Amino acid sequence: MAAAGSAVGLGNIWKFPYIAGEYGGGAFVLIYLVTVLLIGFSIMIAEMLIGYMGRKDGVTSFENLAPKHKHIWKYGGFQGLAGLFIMIFYSVVIGWIFHYIVTSLSYLPATVKEAETTFNAMLHTDIWTQLFYHTIAFIWITHVLTRGIKGGIEKVNMVLMPTLMIILLGMFAYATTLDSFGRAVNFMFEPDWSKIDSEAFVTAVGHAFFTLSLGMGAIMTYSASMEKNSNLVQNAFWVVFLDTTIAIVAGLMLFTFLYQYGAGPAKGPGLVFISLPAAFYEMGIIGNFFAVLFFLALAFAGLTSSVSLVEPMVQYFIDRFSWSRVKASVAMGLFFYLIGIIALLSNIDGYKEALTFGDKNFFDWVDHVTAAIMLPLGGLIMALFVGFVIEKQRVESILRPQLGFAFEAWYFSLRYITPVAMFIVMLSLMGVL
Ligand code: PFF
Ligand code: NA
Repeated sequence: MAAAGSAVGLGNIWKFPYIAGEYGGGAFVLIYLVTVLLIGFSIMIAEMLIGYMGRKDGVTSFENLAPKHKHIWKYGGFQGLAGLFIMIFYSVVIGWIFHYIVTSLSYLPATVKEAETTFNAMLHTDIWTQLFYHTIAFIWITHVLTRGIKGGIEKVNMVLMPTLMIILLGMFAYATTLDSFGRAVNFMFEPDWSKIDSEAFVTAVGHAFFTLSLGMGAIMTYSASMEKNSNLVQNAFWVVFLDTTIAIVAGLMLFTFLYQYGAGPAKGPGLVFISLPAAFYEMGIIGNFFAVLFFLALAFAGLTSSVSLVEPMVQYFIDRFSWSRVKASVAMGLFFYLIGIIALLSNIDGYKEALTFGDKNFFDWVDHVTAAIMLPLGGLIMALFVGFVIEKQRVESILRPQLGFAFEAWYFSLRYITPVAMFIVMLSLMGVL
């Protein structure tokens, strides 16, 4: 449940629909689904295995499993840093969501134009609102982390995850009764290959990692406290299945509302903050109710993921430096909180100029570098580690009974297919392809 709480997040409901929209729907969705199946699922098993066998924070787990070369491989564990970096913008976005929960109670924009103006006013001029809610997100997340895995993280997931699913499925059921549902299905599943270039491909692969929480030690850290004789493959399957289903459900629902209420698919990160509120407005008073529910669900999804983004580094400082949980949580929290303020300012007129480098501001750079570079790199390291460094008999003794005849296929994919795919992603990022 905690791993599912980590996976299901802003990636599914905020990010997936808008990047699917940007890259034209169907073809992009297909690449993403294939990546999830061929690469995501096998890396998920590998990452769970490292945590399950290593039993400690990421760095120590890598050391435990490669005692002869631990000075090199321990750096594999520092992928946990990617989580702190992701939190730099993730927390700011959760802040926007809090703000939208509150305003949707009494206000919805009448047109997309108005929605755009409202969102942009917040994004580009309103420092104090964003700072206020970013601060609340920071306090809440840090508080849950100080309570520990059993008392904090697990409890929160047990309550928020089912609530989130009920809200989403209810809204999805409603969407299926609307005329535009068919159009949404076409948009999501009819491939338009003309929109696909190497950038779309890299984005799809990067997103597969991001949405499954792979390549930064979150799944690894959670798996370290998995009971002996747990079935890793079954766990991995359910996390992948849930995460993918929720992304598809959220996408279909969102695009149905957008087509139905003529709000038009506003491009980019503003999708759920611009087009959707305008669509809710068209529903009348029940629209406010739906809007508040929707943003609550989004906040819950984001909060359970946040906790998992910070936990790897918290665990690292507890295990390696004997810090108390409170000290580690507050220190890591302050790290993403303070740098998050810079990310926030990089969207604000008057500051943005100084905080833009090349074609992206600081906020977008952090998003891009983590999803497109750090997570695939973390995935590559884990694939090589499980594929070539841990002795095959040890891997086989745990996973053969769970995977059966599929074991060899999984092992092969981990050794060759995944590394090659990751290599191609990196080449294309460096502009070689
Ligand atoms: N999987 C989360 C999402 O889809 O929003 C984001 C995330 C959480 C990425 C934890 C990485 C991670 F380790
Ligand atoms: Na996700």
